[in-house]
Formats: sequence, structure tokens, C-alpha cells
Amino acid sequence: MSESAYKFEADLALELVRVVEEAAIASARTMGEGEPDKSDRVAVQAMRKAFEQVPFAGAIVIGEGERDEAPMLYIGERVGASPPPGVDYPEVDIAVDPLEGTNLCSTGTPNSITVLAASEKGGLLHAPDCYMEKIIAGPACRGSLDLDAPVAENLKEMARCLDRRVQDLVIVVLDRPRHANLIREIRQAGARIRLIPDGDLSAGIAVAVRGSGVHAVMGAGGAPEGVITAAAIRCLHGAMVGRLVVDTPELEERIASMGIRDPKRVYSARDLAPGRSIVFASTGVTDGTLLRGVRFFGQGCRTHSLVMTMSTNKVRFVDTVHMETGPGPRGIRLY
Ligand code: FBP
Repeated sequence: MSESAYKFEADLALELVRVVEEAAIASARTMGEGEPDKSDRVAVQAMRKAFEQVPFAGAIVIGEGERDEAPMLYIGERVGASPPPGVDYPEVDIAVDPLEGTNLCSTGTPNSITVLAASEKGGLLHAPDCYMEKIIAGPACRGSLDLDAPVAENLKEMARCLDRRVQDLVIVVLDRPRHANLIREIRQAGARIRLIPDGDLSAGIAVAVRGSGVHAVMGAGGAPEGVITAAAIRCLHGAMVGRLVVDTPELEERIASMGIRDPKRVYSARDLAPGRSIVFASTGVTDGTLLRGVRFFGQGCRTHSLVMTMSTNKVRFVDTVHMETGPGPRGIRLY
């Protein structure tokens, strides 16, 4: 590991946890209100504000959309603290999903998270806002996933890698009509399925962590989410393949204008997040498979986050008590 990669990750990791924590606290306050746009908006505002304290020259490469459709955290926006005279902060590319699973938050359903990934300039693919076919699994399945193989073959291969039977696999699939065939084929092959209403990003992280009870994500979800998942998968040494779903002439044009020459290319996690240094940070908004949601109490709140650094090989679960007015007469609970 180079000294600069070490410094990049060490300097940024805890700064960026604060950013996802702030977004989570803001959006968790709206949990169950039934207003997904509001939940998203407050997360975006809190994340944008928290970036102002981070000593870096950040550039949003995956964000809330193009400048004309997003007032904040739009693609190309510069974020970060203003450096003191004579100081140059490091250039950092940032991919954000200020609230992944807006509907999950607005209905109080599990697995809504705030999330971002950071890398040196050029370290994260500038993915278009379209769908991406994905197969994501844990480290044992590296080199074994094939988007062009029949579903049953992928499942057989995963089962072999994980030293279990196909019937013992749990496959996470977004509950969408476009996945009717996929779901039928998984059922025919005998694997178990967890249908999720939203949130293939948090599911993609969970399948790369042993003990989560899920073994792979299959199907088409957002391409921007795919890039952020890839950053996490690189930190976890997991397995991922993805291919953009380019199904309209407009999208084909847009993709060409972004410099993507082969729209049918199969990307690995390394292709999607090729950085030498990667920091991934996420905080639970609602309770989920890996992270607890934000818990409010009289004097403040408690958050649960995951922060990972790739070249330094660290996976940290961060449990933070945010005290607004001191710990109160009963003090802080251990958990
Ligand atoms: P939001 O965070 O924008 O609510 O997206 C949630 C999500 O379920 C993602 O996890 C997933 O990649 C994508 O939407 C799937 O898109 P669609 O709802 O169009 O199937």
C-alpha cells in the first residue's frame, strides 16, 4: 500500500462518517411521515452542509442528477471546506446516495441507509442514471459470476463456492414486474428468495458479509447504486458483475456522450470503482440487516455506521452517541 493511499483513507474515513451520520439523523426524523421527497430532501441538505466541514476538494461524480434538475449534490458540484490561504486540499471524487430507499424511510420499513463512496480523481465510474443488471455475492464467489449464464448455473456455481446446496442459498431480488422471469428461474432452481421493496445497494453490501443470512443479489437496479455498491464490494473483497441496461436510442446517445464506447460491457467491481484508495461510509436510517437505524432519546440520538477503507483493509462499525445537551441524568447506555 502506498503512503499516499494510506493518508487519503486515514484522513477521510472519520470525516465522511460524520457526513452520512448527519444525513441519517435528518432523514430519520421524517421516518413514517409518508413523504419520500421530504425524507430525501432533508438528507441531501444535511449531507451538503456536513461536507462544508470536510477538508478536501470534493467533486460529486454520482449525485442527485444533473445541475438543472438538482439544486444540491448535483453531478459536477464542488463540495468541501474552503482551504486556508496557501493550502491545497486533496482532490476527491465522491459518489453519494443521500438516502438510499426513500420509500423505506417514509414508511419506516427496514434497510434505508445514507451512503457515499470517495476515491482519488477518476476512481469511480461516472455511471449514467439508468438500470444495471447485477449479480453481487461474497468473496468466495469471486471469478464465478456470469451475467450471460443461465440463472440455474450461476446458482449452482455460487452453491459450490459457498460449500452448500442451491436450496440453502437466499437470493435477494427487487420486487419488480421486470424480475418475473428471474424469480421464476430462481424458484425452479430451488434457491430461496428474499424479495425487497427497495434498496439493492444495502442488500449488495449485506451479501458480502458472512452471517447476514443472504448470499447474492440478482436483477436490475440503479446503475449509480451499482457504482457505490462496487466501492463497498472492493473494500469487502466481494464479487460483482454489472452491465448497463441500454434500451432506448436516447440512452444509447447519452452513454456514448459520456465516453462509454461499449454499452454491453460487463463490468467487475474493479471496473466500476477502479480507485487505488476507496473510502465507503454508510449510516442506518431505519433498522436493517447490517446497521441499526437512528434511535432518538431525550438528550440526543444514537447512530450506527459502517466505514470501510480499501487499501488499508479496515471495516469499522461505528456506534455514535450524539449528545445535544449532555448525557442527561441517566448517562449513556452501553448499547
Ligand atoms: P431510492 O433510494 O431512489 O429510493 O432508490 C431505491 C432503489 O430501490 C434502489 O435501491 C434500486 O437500485 C432502485 O431504486 C431500483 O429502481 P426502481 O425503483 O426503478 O426499480
